[in-house]
Amino acid sequence: MNHADGRYLESKRTVDDRALNRRVRDRLRDELPASPRVLEAGAGTGVTVPRLLDWGVTAGEYHGVDRDAGIIEVARERRCAELDGTPTENGFRVGDLTVRFDQGDALEAFGTDRADLVVAQSVLDLVPIDDALDAFETALDPGGLVYAPITFDGETIFQPDHPADDRVVAAYHDDIDNRPGRDTRAGRHLLDRCCERDGDLLAVGASDWVVRPRGGDYPNDERYFLATILEFIESAVDGPGVDEWLETRRQQLAEGTLSYVAHGYDVCYRVP
Ligand SMILES: C[S@@+](CC[C@H](N)C(=O)[O-])C[C@H]1O[C@@H](n2cnc3c(N)ncnc32)[C@H](O)[C@@H]1O
Repeated sequence: MNHADGRYLESKRTVDDRALNRRVRDRLRDELPASPRVLEAGAGTGVTVPRLLDWGVTAGEYHGVDRDAGIIEVARERRCAELDGTPTENGFRVGDLTVRFDQGDALEAFGTDRADLVVAQSVLDLVPIDDALDAFETALDPGGLVYAPITFDGETIFQPDHPADDRVVAAYHDDIDNRPGRDTRAGRHLLDRCCERDGDLLAVGASDWVVRPRGGDYPNDERYFLATILEFIESAVDGPGVDEWLETRRQQLAEGTLSYVAHGYDVCYRVP
């Protein structure tokens, strides 16, 4: 599936907003310097930038990296327009915050950048966790922070009950886990790694995606979000009963009776 137009990532923004763990976010905010230098791995459409501004981070430097060049273009344009920024070569300025997006591999692309904070939202289930933490630690000054919100952790739930749920979800997770670097239990493994390392695990909390209909409809663009999740499953799973399961779920989505939960963790870790 091609998500270069960014609609899937934009559609998950309101789902993320509800999911983000307030306690972990508050601890992060308490630890940040006044004008932080922020790097983001797998920045997607750059929705962290308006979130930082909402949290009171109105000065400093933000540099988002994503391997998808099309998504980087979307991030530059949409976030600049949304925030009424002043365009620059690779991004924009908004007040005293300088924003830049570049295409590259997040495990390598930070180069000589130095940071107070590395953000990796919904990314650490896609790359080897230890490699990512090593790269982040290299980019961070001593005592710098890693904020990894909405790190997927192995529970995918659809309601109402369907007899094929367990089989379909297990096959979906197996398909993900068979791909290089991917891990459907990344949330708990991130906790393990943070505990084993020499830094401090400052805060951790659940951040589950919960999408549910209201009066037969879904808020914002969340029907599209759910339709995309079903497409992910369709492309990953086949076998007896899967077509019927998908047909039932799509019918429920159209009728506004389908709910979905995915379990995640938010983690705030301070490197040595
Ligand atoms: C699930 S999306 C999350 C995007 C964004 N952080 C958000 O939460 O909206 C994962 C993003 O990570 C990017 N990505 C995956 N592996 C990457 C890597 N090794 N280096 C840079 N970006 C990567 C993908 O292109 C995608 O945009």
